[in-house]
Amino acid sequence: MDEIRDDRRNFLNWLIGGGLVAFLGSVFYPVYRYVIPPPSGEANVSQVKLPFKLKELQEDEKKSRIFKFGRNVGIILITPENELKAFNAVCTHLDCTVQYRKDLSIIWCACHNGRYDLEGRNISGPPPRPLTAYTVHLDNATGDIFVAEAKG
Ligand code: FES
Repeated sequence: MDEIRDDRRNFLNWLIGGGLVAFLGSVFYPVYRYVIPPPSGEANVSQVKLPFKLKELQEDEKKSRIFKFGRNVGIILITPENELKAFNAVCTHLDCTVQYRKDLSIIWCACHNGRYDLEGRNISGPPPRPLTAYTVHLDNATGDIFVAEAKG
């Protein structure tokens, strides 16, 4: 009889202990995940192949596209002189994404009317620094476009 009682007691101890562990896990695991976020899935890169070809960019009405550059975003555009230029697309003022204004031949930030020339220099508005320029390599045979960090 005592043996059955001990078995029941052991079973209840395990049940209560397991429930307590599960409860503490459900409370502290989300706190742990919040305090220590997982590592970013995006790697730092120094060169990317753009997911579109030159012909698509030429046919684009805006003559520009935004692309992912590792953790950043970049902008590539075709100037009125038919040159390919690429920059980090993050405005140096408060990190909005810039866009190409073909009609004004500038790179424009809509957030606070920041303006950059087609060399990436900040020419008016609040941006304190120029955009970071990337180098562009075009594979003439395939039309593939490669963008790389400029060697400083
Ligand atoms: S964030 Fe671009 S001008 Fe302010």
